Amino acid sequence: MAGSPFPRTSRAPRTSRAPRAALHRGAAVAAALTFAAAAAPAQAASAPERTTLSPTADPSTSQTVTWRAADDYAPVLEIAPASAPDQVRRVEGERTGSTDGVHYRATADGLEPGTDYRYRVGSAEGGAFGDWLAFETAADGPDPFRFLYFGDVQNDITGGAAPTIEAALADAPDAELAVHAGDLVNSGGSDAEWGEWFGAFGQDATGSMNQVTAPGNHEYSGWSITDHWGLQFPGAGNGPDDDDLEDTVYYTDHQGVRFVVLNSNYRNAPWFDTKDWLEDQQYWLRGVLEDNPNPWTVVTFHHPVFSNSPTRDNGRLRDMWLEVFEEYDVDLVLQGHDHGYGRGNLVDNRTGDPDVQTGPVYAVAVTGPKMYGVSDANWTDNGAEARVQREEAQTYQIVEVDGSRLDYVSKTREGEIVDRFHITKGGDGKRVTDDLP
Ligand SMILES: [Fe+2]
Repeated sequence: MAGSPFPRTSRAPRTSRAPRAALHRGAAVAAALTFAAAAAPAQAASAPERTTLSPTADPSTSQTVTWRAADDYAPVLEIAPASAPDQVRRVEGERTGSTDGVHYRATADGLEPGTDYRYRVGSAEGGAFGDWLAFETAADGPDPFRFLYFGDVQNDITGGAAPTIEAALADAPDAELAVHAGDLVNSGGSDAEWGEWFGAFGQDATGSMNQVTAPGNHEYSGWSITDHWGLQFPGAGNGPDDDDLEDTVYYTDHQGVRFVVLNSNYRNAPWFDTKDWLEDQQYWLRGVLEDNPNPWTVVTFHHPVFSNSPTRDNGRLRDMWLEVFEEYDVDLVLQGHDHGYGRGNLVDNRTGDPDVQTGPVYAVAVTGPKMYGVSDANWTDNGAEARVQREEAQTYQIVEVDGSRLDYVSKTREGEIVDRFHITKGGDGKRVTDDLP
């Protein structure tokens, strides 16, 4: 690949599709047994729950962890290279707020890229630690990996959405990151629903993969986003300079992909601030895409620029953001909200081959059981086409990025393939090729 704009790192390729994260997830059990004596002294304080990895701007050298406990204490993150588990570093955390418990956050920096770490969180005053969990820092530059994309989980989480989530985690046990396109729960202020959400993914998943989360309208009440949001998903801290968008707009670079999270909930912005809300993000987005050293770009937010469900329309998002996605040729725009599956592109990006387009891919998906009908009217009314649409399909998506190629598949929990395409970038430009029969 001489002269390729997609350099592979010198890191040795994995000899198999070894499910690293799965090893991490399984490692918690073994580690808990191994370290049971040290980790479980009699403590008054309670064990952490809902331990979650949140991306930093540079996940190759730093990692944010959030968790919650019943007790108010001085929090600490203990972290060590997996290869040297005795070299435990203690990182002071902070108390960030409370819901039905006290929330904590800690960020470890100075980490080595592409390195396995083990960690646990608890009280600095002497324990209340949870299990040892594990993650791997991102490589320092492009390196093959897979990630998961989930649409709205939202309703009947334990009974109706969890089986699809479990299928995704089983199908891609090596996934290094999870993208959530909003409406993770139905009532953003319901601690019980958040309990179901964390239960559906499980601590071994939320604690081993960075969770790239965009808020949906169901995380809002009027002008206010639920307190749970920023406490659980603090963002990478590199968003626009706007108080309303703190925690919810940011980007993170993972092994050659820039993941950008936008907040599409302009209907929940104060009426006098709606224009600024969208313009601030447009301006910021331009900067983030203009100055992007990564060969791939994925943008996620909740409300689709091309509505996939009849009678819906988010024209203000289209007016403000679509032009930027197209100008900078964002590769994937991952959305939710319309409770069906859809994938398409601008008509202008058709090529002579009916199975091939160029330019950005716009996708809409749903993970939970709430379903709406689908229609391509809002696509075709606005210069786009829906290449694939499906009603009544709870799906998960696996995206694999490897050098100059990206593979995307959308599946039901039964294993049926709802959509499949791949993107290549090379001497003849960018091609998005349908892979459905
Ligand atoms: Fe929604």
